[in-house]
Amino acid sequence: MNIDILLGLQWGDEGKGKIVDAISPGYDIIARFQGGPNAGHSLEFNNVKHVLHLIPSGIFHAEKINIIGNGVVIDPAVFKKEIETLGPPVTELVRRLVISARANLIMPGHRILDAAYEHSKGCSKIGSTLKGIGPAYTDKVARSGLRVGEILSDNFRELYDVHLKNHLSILKNYDFTYNLEEYEAGWFEGIEMLKKFRIINTEYLINDLTSKGKKLLAEGAQGTMLDVDFGSYPFVTSSNTISAGACTGLGISPKKIGDIFGIFKAYCTRVGSGPFPTELNDDTGTLLRDLGHEFGSTTGRPRRCGWLDLPALKYAIMINGVTQLFMTKSDVMSGFSKVKVCTSYLSSGKECLEIPFDNSPVEPVYTELPGWESDISGIREFTRLPENLKSYIKFIEDQTGVPVTMVSVGADREETIFR
Ligand code: GDP
Ligand code: IMO
Ligand code: MG
Repeated sequence: MNIDILLGLQWGDEGKGKIVDAISPGYDIIARFQGGPNAGHSLEFNNVKHVLHLIPSGIFHAEKINIIGNGVVIDPAVFKKEIETLGPPVTELVRRLVISARANLIMPGHRILDAAYEHSKGCSKIGSTLKGIGPAYTDKVARSGLRVGEILSDNFRELYDVHLKNHLSILKNYDFTYNLEEYEAGWFEGIEMLKKFRIINTEYLINDLTSKGKKLLAEGAQGTMLDVDFGSYPFVTSSNTISAGACTGLGISPKKIGDIFGIFKAYCTRVGSGPFPTELNDDTGTLLRDLGHEFGSTTGRPRRCGWLDLPALKYAIMINGVTQLFMTKSDVMSGFSKVKVCTSYLSSGKECLEIPFDNSPVEPVYTELPGWESDISGIREFTRLPENLKSYIKFIEDQTGVPVTMVSVGADREETIFR
């Protein structure tokens, strides 16, 4: 059992990047298995903040192998920009990063289609990051996608033109203006950058190395409540963000999975449209946004903020089979005299513990707990955390039946407490 998974239990942005970076020293391989440049994974060390979109969050550890798996959709233009801004020279990054030949490409047409679809939806927009995710996965499932391995073929340009023609013919049905050239130039430069990297059947590498005892950490993107099957459909992303997604997105057997680390914020945030029962449209919500710097890592949009939602957390724990809980951003709630946790919902006046499949409105039922007043960002031992924070954690553990084994008290790599 030398494959563990770390994934988000809420609506994304739980702090996955920070924690993957922090626990990478315990692994040999760090692999992304789904999503694409819609993700924005932040991590901080030596007072520098990095935001990763496509590249796994183990990339700053020189001796680790990072893999972009087959389940990821890659925009070459975003990839190039990210490689050039990371810091280490390209030759060094080529040593650290391997890409699946089976990963699908996000093409310029996908980005334009994403924008055209959202534009046509008027006030029922999904709130997509407009990175082309939905159209790229649509082509993948329709068996009309273009994959990374194909960039090495002699007729790549012809293949690209066939796909472009299809996208442009769909776009004719939309009243939407776009500038294709603007995307295309950067995209083809990105293709040249991708060619410098090892493009292989990563499923063989992964299974070979893990069968020889190497440890792999699968890094989720987005969060369980954005999963295409189990999230608040249609206000979701287009991939399986849950633990099962790691098997299909990397080519690994469920029998090989060990721990499933479920990461959640001490409160909740959501960016984009869709239900959010505990959302606070008041001063407390604004305070959480300000104190937690809750603005999207990819789009800069303000994140909606609210209290912790336990029915949603329990649902995510169930779907993923979470073995350990990691809680982030507890420092953001320091100073609140009281904090609330949603323990059930009311639906048409009746108690409801399930997440409705049709997004029908539910009203949260809260339990109020005492807050913790002190600044906790300098604390490194669990026992030294304020008693009220420990009670908050105990309450979550009792409600979910899963231990909270890591508490994050700041954005920096060092501001992490393991129990
Ligand atoms: P991800 O998408 O799950 O990797 O999360 P993001 O990077 O999009 O958003 C999390 C934000 O919170 C980033 O700005 C992190 O630097 C920051 N962060 C992570 N953990 C903590 C924490 O425990 N406390 C505080 N204050 N910030 C944190
Ligand atoms: P990380 O990995 C938060 C949201 C978008 C939108 C919906 C669909 O950083 O946690 P898409 O572009 O996928 O078609 O958008 O999903 N979304 C995210 N929200 N964090 C993310 O990634 C997200 N990736 C997509 O805001 O509501
Ligand atoms: Mg993010």
